[in-house]
Amino acid sequence: MHALIINGSPRTKKLSNTDKILNKFTAGMKEAGSTFELYEVSDRKSWETMRQSFCRNENILIAIPLFVECIPGLLMEFLETLEPELAAWREKETDPKPKKLAFILQSGFAEGVQLRCGEAYLMRLAKSLGCEYFGTLVKGNNFGIRLVESEEQDKVTVPYQEMGRIYAEEGNFDSEACKKFTGPEVFPAPVRVLVGLIFKTVAKRGFVRAAKAWGCTKPLNDRPYAK
Ligand SMILES: Cc1cc2nc3c(=O)[nH]c(=O)nc-3n(C[C@H](O)[C@H](O)[C@H](O)COP(=O)(O)O)c2cc1C
Repeated sequence: MHALIINGSPRTKKLSNTDKILNKFTAGMKEAGSTFELYEVSDRKSWETMRQSFCRNENILIAIPLFVECIPGLLMEFLETLEPELAAWREKETDPKPKKLAFILQSGFAEGVQLRCGEAYLMRLAKSLGCEYFGTLVKGNNFGIRLVESEEQDKVTVPYQEMGRIYAEEGNFDSEACKKFTGPEVFPAPVRVLVGLIFKTVAKRGFVRAAKAWGCTKPLNDRPYAK
């Protein structure tokens, strides 16, 4: 298959976790003999090319980081500019085939349940764009990808390679392997308590270190607009 892939993160390619995930995912697609064209929604200059590619392609995959329980506003803005172009394309074509729209929905928090509301929205989104819904690969626990070195990064991203292979072969995320990929839907209570503790201690120290490395001089709980 040939697919159009859109990285829906507002973060630029270099800083985007979705980008690192797609690197592995597309390596799996290539292994299975598929080809793809990949764009970033963060690059506004490519929006016109992306719209044309959306009209031209039958298989479309949008990879999305969960932002405040839903999809990033910049991706929404792009999709709003896409709608008129898609409508014009349908008018022009004698037999416009419905597009097969699938999604990767990835997030920071690890439990599958955190992403289900976003997943339900994506089913509706595909329909409102006049596309056929071809499933969502749902996976959390991706907060740290861009913050760690490549070996640590690989532990999180390499499993996406197998998912890319399956997507290339089946064109959707309906298989048991893809459903299992989400991991635990809800952590058991003791694990939830432990995760809370980790966020208040080890993870907090990690965030402070990362902020310092990026040149942040104020404490992370600083409230400049409250002054
Ligand atoms: C503004 C913002 C809002 C976020 N909201 C959520 C959220 O509601 N739930 C969650 O699990 N992760 C949330 N995250 C974490 C991202 O989904 C996660 O870090 C993702 O891997 C980022 O991918 P990207 O770097 O490609 O944008 C949020 C991150 C940011 C920056």
